Amino acid sequence: MAMKKLRSIFTLAFIIFVSVTEASRCSITGIPLVRNISELPQDSYGRPGLSHITVAGAALHGMKEIEVWLQTFAPGSHTPIHRHSCEEVFVVLKGSGTAYLASDSVHRYPGKPQELHIFSNSTFRIPVNDAHQIWNTNEHEDLQLLVVISRPPAKIFIYEDWFMPHTAARLKYPYYWDEECLLEESIKDEL
Ligand SMILES: *[C@@H]1O[C@H](CO)[C@@H](O)[C@H](O)[C@H]1NC(C)=O
Ligand SMILES: *[C@@H]1O[C@H](CO)[C@@H](O)[C@H](O)[C@H]1NC(C)=O
Repeated sequence: MAMKKLRSIFTLAFIIFVSVTEASRCSITGIPLVRNISELPQDSYGRPGLSHITVAGAALHGMKEIEVWLQTFAPGSHTPIHRHSCEEVFVVLKGSGTAYLASDSVHRYPGKPQELHIFSNSTFRIPVNDAHQIWNTNEHEDLQLLVVISRPPAKIFIYEDWFMPHTAARLKYPYYWDEECLLEESIKDEL
């Protein structure tokens, strides 16, 4: 009997713990102005080799004009080939790799991309709607990027390859990294 009681107390404590940590992860109220990046939640979002941290996000922090991410790609990992109608700026903090960029808009598909070598302390921007892909092509080191995009949430078109017609690209909209926070918001709204 006592055992059963103890177990239910533990279960309750666990539920409270989970809901408190979840609330602090998604809540915009009470976040300190200065935060330690090492203590921010990170997730791979199901993508092998990726570590994503939302430094400032639409779903997470109610950002309206920009979003800022810190992303680390393990050797050999990469983004999908994609394009979006927002502006995007990268700062390479660590490592090196390749940015593939198809700027040619005369075709019905992205076409063969330029290969741009990116390296620690370099910066680059992706023109609006140009298909691109970031690869950590350095097999010895992680590639760490600070990424800024405009007007979240992004409207993303994903390509299987560089010769897939624009019309066949898979639309993902709205693209949120922290979807569970939106879910939590809508649950709160219902209460
Ligand atoms: C930031 O967090 C990391 C990991 O918890 C810790 O090692 C580091 O000391 C923190 N930095 C400061 C300035 O508190
Ligand atoms: C990056 O570039 C800036 C501007 O030249 C320089 O001050 C800084 O030391 C560089 N950082 C690294 C890690 O090379």
